[in-house]
Amino acid sequence: MSRQFEWWREAVVYQIYPRSFADGNGDGIGDIPGIRRQIPYLKELGVDALWLSPHYVSPMLDAGYDVADYRNVDPIFGTLADFEGLIADTHQAGMRIMCDIVPNHTSWEHPWFIEALAHKVENDQSVPAKARYADGPWARYHLLRGQANGTLPPNNWISIFGGPAWDELTDDQGAGTGWWYLHIFDKSQPDLDWENQEVRAEFRGHLRFWFDRGIDGIRIDVGHGLAKAEGYPDCPPIKDGDPTHLNPYWDQDGVHEIWREWRAVADEYEPARIFVGEIWVGPAARSARYLRADELHTGFNFGYMTAPWQAKEIRNNITNCLRENDVMNAPATWVLENHDCWRAVTRYAPIIGQDETARTESGALDITKTVDWKSPRDLEIGAKRARAALLTMLALPGSSYIYNGQELGLDEVFDIPAEQRQDPAFHNTGGVSVGRDGCRVPLPWGTESASLDFNDNDKLWLPQPKHWKNLAASVQDSDEHSMLNLTRNALKLRHEQPALGGVVDHVPAIVWKRSGKSVLDFIRPARNGGRAIRCVMNTGTKPVRLRKNDGIVLASSSTAIVNGKLTPNASVWLWV
Ligand code: NOJ
Repeated sequence: MSRQFEWWREAVVYQIYPRSFADGNGDGIGDIPGIRRQIPYLKELGVDALWLSPHYVSPMLDAGYDVADYRNVDPIFGTLADFEGLIADTHQAGMRIMCDIVPNHTSWEHPWFIEALAHKVENDQSVPAKARYADGPWARYHLLRGQANGTLPPNNWISIFGGPAWDELTDDQGAGTGWWYLHIFDKSQPDLDWENQEVRAEFRGHLRFWFDRGIDGIRIDVGHGLAKAEGYPDCPPIKDGDPTHLNPYWDQDGVHEIWREWRAVADEYEPARIFVGEIWVGPAARSARYLRADELHTGFNFGYMTAPWQAKEIRNNITNCLRENDVMNAPATWVLENHDCWRAVTRYAPIIGQDETARTESGALDITKTVDWKSPRDLEIGAKRARAALLTMLALPGSSYIYNGQELGLDEVFDIPAEQRQDPAFHNTGGVSVGRDGCRVPLPWGTESASLDFNDNDKLWLPQPKHWKNLAASVQDSDEHSMLNLTRNALKLRHEQPALGGVVDHVPAIVWKRSGKSVLDFIRPARNGGRAIRCVMNTGTKPVRLRKNDGIVLASSSTAIVNGKLTPNASVWLWV
């Protein structure tokens, strides 16, 4: 290889949602001791790195994405010493570890916001609409004078979780002050003003705090946010399906300067620390701009996750992403599941009697898109597709993310009583959006305790469905055809076969074979003395002939190949 080994270019990273992964103290909520207990499982699975969703002190009004103290661990998860122990254990096991950071907003319990609230503002009718109040502690947030003498929000921005993105400050008697603070997410998550140098310096300090403790990289929450358009203009009306639609708080040019500053901090370290950005930016050429040499190392390709079950659309996403990222000399970052979207098994499952699969917007962050979650879906087909999709993803050049429980083929859980649901997206929309709790249900590890060995008792912060008993890790462990063993086998091969590994300058990363509407067919050419591997996936309804090949490397299920043909909803790796 012409450059020093850069692990993040080809790593498979396992996302741990700490509340849901494993519970060490038996209180029904996952924690760091629970994660440490499962390090051998993760090692055996074969992933290269872990990413933990936020572990910080938080009132947990958005499951920890509302941070009150960026330099400590929330007591429900454990202590800073536990976290340091986890870093050590992970490194000891030969894996890397990344954490999350939430820079777009703080919690309303953060000392800065408490200080800002204590700073009283006057309801002065002579102040023009949209005037900015940036005195004292309010300079760290966006506080604007409302319209119509302060009685209406400053503009038409809508919160991602429903309702206006502005809340009015009230005086001691509870009367409106005419001043409104910005929260693109829940009202408990006020947006920070990133033009403020104190905010920037503070966050550089947060990065160093965790890098100094041995964290190898950081996932950046809302990496396409932070910068707001000057003058706070209204959002333009949405034209359905218009890829150029841009709200004035997403993908603004100003955000890149912040990432350049952060990159300089990561580069101070030896070995250099890395970033993966949560970049919800549609056009591949726009999202690749975040991966310029002096910005972020990697950024999630969410178009891959939201593509419907159709080879043609999936292939378009892959080719666009590889083409644009290549311009930046950046690897692609593939993802099929995370804590914000429906589990792939359910997403890819057609509604019974129709052929509708749900796009990822379903129940995820975009509450403006309503998706049918009540009609029964064919989960058997969904499970086949989820297996096929995983195998294909792991054959692609670049880095891949696996969300905890994806390797068990867990489905989305809809049967959760309203009073147990936690997601503000559910509560703020009065249940119109089903929210994201369904992909956050505690993992089934075994069959001994009532919580399926999430802990040793029956306490669970969200209820598990009964059929998960059959999906428990210990059950799948002894079934050679289980999704767990498919994942392990794929990851093992990925390490053993150079064709599936890092890109070598003189070898093309991928060579496309046939290009139909419902067949994905590509070769990862031979490199570093290994053999070439071909991956074929069938998203159609008819079996597909596999033409000339030298045998099967790995198939997505035991019924993937029948009479030499690849069956619908299956994928295969072949020697060529
Ligand atoms: C994206 C995170 O993935 C999501 O879980 C969270 O609710 C929002 N950002 C707000 O921080």
